[in-house]
Amino acid sequence: MAKRKIIIDTDPGQDDAVAILLALASPELEVVGITTVAGNVPLSLTQKNARIVCELAERPDIKVFAGASRPMVRPLVTAEYVHGSTGLNGPDLPDPTMPLQDQHAVDFIIDTVRAGAEDEITLCPLGPLTNIALAMQKAPDIIPRLRQIVLMGGGCFEGGNVTPTAEFNIYVDPHAADVVFRSGVPVVVIPLDVTHQCLTTAKRTAAFRALGTNCGIATAEMMEFFERFDEGKYGTDGGPLHDPNVIAYLLKPELYETREVNIEIETMSDLTLGMTVVDWWGVTDRTKNATYCRNVDDEGFFDLLLERYRALP
Ligand code: BDR
Ligand code: CA
Repeated sequence: MAKRKIIIDTDPGQDDAVAILLALASPELEVVGITTVAGNVPLSLTQKNARIVCELAERPDIKVFAGASRPMVRPLVTAEYVHGSTGLNGPDLPDPTMPLQDQHAVDFIIDTVRAGAEDEITLCPLGPLTNIALAMQKAPDIIPRLRQIVLMGGGCFEGGNVTPTAEFNIYVDPHAADVVFRSGVPVVVIPLDVTHQCLTTAKRTAAFRALGTNCGIATAEMMEFFERFDEGKYGTDGGPLHDPNVIAYLLKPELYETREVNIEIETMSDLTLGMTVVDWWGVTDRTKNATYCRNVDDEGFFDLLLERYRALP
């Protein structure tokens, strides 16, 4: 079977790291490149962290690109209070030796989509949507060539995680999100409503450690570091494991309950900036532009993760 070609656009971030590892462990997927963006931590760290994760997976052949160092309009907001000063706090991982590619991430996305067949490339954004929107603006011809965008961002029933109404990835660059949701590309949304169901409980974390592998142990240590903030906030055993849901959706969409909806992004209001306004009940006649994941089989999600991790070093 032909592998599905994906570009992971990311701001690692411990949960981004787990998503990258899941993709690299999955034979159905070909990671044609990893593009990095400023988000959880500044770009100088996210591009480095992506390479650290590739080396953890013993995949120094993966091409990693640096992209936008700040959102399209607004100043950058980061989240060291969740992810730590490096973005990957928890395990003690060596600095990468594999190179960062010279090409800008936005140009890599454009060239790859143009060079591929129509409907060949799927974009997997795990951070603010800056690189994706910049690529669409610079080269609108790529828009109809994209197969799908499967992204982690937004929320509806759970509210927001950085403001009462906004989720971090959308809040950091709402103008970029607006471009993406208006683009006409089929977008699958993994929102907080789903990721808050995927808790890194002590039992699940122990299962990763028990794999005894470098990736399993590092993942347990990453989970233990970044869950501490959300455990305090939500009073749960473990924190939400957000970004790997994007890859899990590609591998096993049957784990997710979905509905076709219209989503628009709030870019004007100070109060609700970055809100994903989801027309869940179809109360407007706005065109449906997204597949919204509402629920996940969380046991199935963690089973999939653990099973795939067995292929990792
Ligand atoms: C999203 O924000 C980041 O902190 C995580 O990596 C995830 O992509 C969750 O709101
Ligand atoms: Ca992320």
